Amino acid sequence: MNQPRRNIQWQGSHVTPEQRREAIGQRGCVIWLTGLSGSGKSTVALRVERRLLELGKVAYTLDGDNIRHGLCSDLGFKPEDRRENIRRVGELVRLMADAGVVAIVALISPYRDDRARVRARIPEGRFVEVFVDAPLAVCEERDPKGLYARARSGEIPNFTGISAPYEAPVDPELVLRTDESDVDGCVDRVVETIIPLLTL
Ligand code: ADX
Repeated sequence: MNQPRRNIQWQGSHVTPEQRREAIGQRGCVIWLTGLSGSGKSTVALRVERRLLELGKVAYTLDGDNIRHGLCSDLGFKPEDRRENIRRVGELVRLMADAGVVAIVALISPYRDDRARVRARIPEGRFVEVFVDAPLAVCEERDPKGLYARARSGEIPNFTGISAPYEAPVDPELVLRTDESDVDGCVDRVVETIIPLLTL
């Protein structure tokens, strides 16, 4: 994946970052929500997206379940498949952010190294890691898709939190305790973090 590319040259842009920013009226960034299944990533992502659109900003949510219907439909849940899932979405949002979009990602992305690799590909300060933190017991109790019950019974292998690990972020930009704060409060905190990045 990372071998030097022979016979392929980088094609530069005819537009400067400033020209792009002026045309679009904002700068792009990546908001990366990580957390257990059922922690509230999609709920927060979709609400943040809508709030930004209401403010006249260009934002787009990339949700793990949806991405796995298309771009990553060939991938499963083994560590190497998750790594590739995160890599592809990371490359996609890198381009989206470069194009001026606020790309909001909701992926479990359970491995620290995978998230760090994405961060390293995004310009400094434009990758906002948000730990959507709810205890496993709370997520399992919510079980919105009935997957935890199926994972406990052994029907779904490699299920994050049950039979596969989740590595919590060490130093995320934001931590949202979705079991302690209401959704509005969580959405406010994410939006407040994004607004300054649109002009910086
Ligand atoms: S990730 O680990 O590669 O980031 P991703 O966010 O794309 O995962 O997909 C997670 C979604 O797939 C969950 O919301 C859940 O609905 C579903 N799913 C199916 N099997 C598993 C599994 N073994 N572990 C976690 N989620 C699973």
